[in-house]
Amino acid sequence: MTDLRINELRVHEADIEASNHSNEEENEDWIKPLIYQSQGAKEFAYCPYSKFRVGAALLAHDGTVFTGCNVENASYNLGLCAERTTIAKAVSEGYRRFKTIAIASDLEDQFISPCGGCRQFMREFGDQWSVYLSKPDGSYVEMTVGELLPVSFGPEDLKKKTMLTTQSGS
Ligand code: THU
Repeated sequence: MTDLRINELRVHEADIEASNHSNEEENEDWIKPLIYQSQGAKEFAYCPYSKFRVGAALLAHDGTVFTGCNVENASYNLGLCAERTTIAKAVSEGYRRFKTIAIASDLEDQFISPCGGCRQFMREFGDQWSVYLSKPDGSYVEMTVGELLPVSFGPEDLKKKTMLTTQSGS
């Protein structure tokens, strides 16, 4: 049996740096493995209600990869999407700078598209990092978080000047 628990794959920082300056074909050196990891994570999906499996693999700035899957609940609205599971895993281990997230599902004719809530969850950590929407055959579409969630609201907005008036005028 293939061991799909490949959480510890790391992408070398040099490869990440190279990809920043190279064309799409060279990028594939580490994007394909990242998509493969998201497919591995999908195998652990806990989705007895929807039966819709989703996996994600998140590449942090230093090459560390975190993986996660959707985790549903008998109290339906408590279910977690794969993207949020994965980002929460990374943040809870001290990571906040992300380069890429790859997402996998069983949809054969469509690239899996992150839900609105997950787009906002990604946006919390910047809008210029990339999201790979994949199909089971490993093909993918790359988009930035900003493209997936244009004109977004983020943490910077909370720091901007506001006009707060209260009854006492203060
Ligand atoms: N789901 C994800 O995990 N990520 C997405 O981007 C879309 C939806 C999950 C949530 C739920 O467990 C199942 O897919 C069906 O909506």
